[in-house]
Amino acid sequence: MSKDKTILRALAGETLPTPPIWMMRQAGRYLPEYKATRAQAGDFLSLCYNPELAAEVTFQPIRRYGFDAAILFADILLVPQALGADLWFVTGEGPRLSTITTQAEVDALKPVEAIHDTLNPIYETVKILSNGLPDDTTLIGFAGAPWTVATYMVAGRGTPDQGPAHALKDENRAVFEALLERITDATVLYLSEQIKAGAEVVKIFDSWAGSLQGSDFVDYSLNPMQRITSEIKAMHPDTPIIAFPRGAGERFEGAHAAIGADCVALDDGVTAEWAAEHVQKDGCVQGNLASSHMVTGGDALVSETRRIVKAFSKGPHIFNLGHGITPDADPENVQLMIDTVRGG
Ligand code: CP3
Repeated sequence: MSKDKTILRALAGETLPTPPIWMMRQAGRYLPEYKATRAQAGDFLSLCYNPELAAEVTFQPIRRYGFDAAILFADILLVPQALGADLWFVTGEGPRLSTITTQAEVDALKPVEAIHDTLNPIYETVKILSNGLPDDTTLIGFAGAPWTVATYMVAGRGTPDQGPAHALKDENRAVFEALLERITDATVLYLSEQIKAGAEVVKIFDSWAGSLQGSDFVDYSLNPMQRITSEIKAMHPDTPIIAFPRGAGERFEGAHAAIGADCVALDDGVTAEWAAEHVQKDGCVQGNLASSHMVTGGDALVSETRRIVKAFSKGPHIFNLGHGITPDADPENVQLMIDTVRGG
């Protein structure tokens, strides 16, 4: 592992003159080359499970932009599928899964060791990437956090307020906790296997953490992620971990310690100035440019990018968006963001 990789240096706590940069969903539908490869694969899931093509779309934004990190191309919902849930994607609408709301349905999930039968192609993708990426590009693996994955498994789809998962939690906490535990165990095995295959960093996406209130945020967002980080660190002490409790607001403060993460990824719901004072004091931060700037571009993109770089300039920082880039983004705005970060 090269310690010259800027992402690894930032994750180790170093303040760099220019922050390293990558972008959530950097392989995606805003890129014509992604759309072409996705069409070649047939559909989204076939692309995820085709190691050659999944590696190809992961390489595309590295070739085009020279990002400092590549993120494995896959999806957080492959873990439920590997546990036995049905999964399919409806074009223009998003994911659909068979629902899980009873103890019998939790018990009917596959044992966690069985996930590798389904997820082996993903580890193959990691191996191809590990061998093929430029020497200075860091390879990031990832998984969904248990709460976020559970919201999809309970509802069978994305929901605006994660209502079905909240209802299960409040009406039948034992079933809800059994499901969360099964996902947590599977996620540890999945991330560990990605690391063995060559992932140098792993990121845990808790995209719906913000909808958990009070002690639920601690019990069901922070604590399951903390269990994952402690078990991964026990097996892979040198692999840095990024955690993304999206929507945490003021609760981003203290998240490094509560999760045991080397880096906390920020959305755009907090200002960089606030986060520099309250979150970056505890370690590396990543984020937090609003992804809408990739659609609108112009002076606002340049000035916001400069503001974020300046606010985080006194500590370890990885430049990124606050959430994934959207399909309507203009690829030229991505270049403008990179030029602004690297060129001042
Ligand atoms: O960041 C990357 O480039 C790596 C690949 C990646 C994808 N999904 C590819 C993808 C990652 C890290 C994810 C994570 C993911 N997936 C999350 C957490 C991060 C977040 O965005 O909050 C969630 C909640 C999912 C579940 C998911 N996958 C949804 C809700 C959707 C449909 C919405 C949409 O954008 O269409 C997906 C599909 C998906 N995952 C796409 C991509 C590139 C679009 C699929 C396509 O090509 O049609």
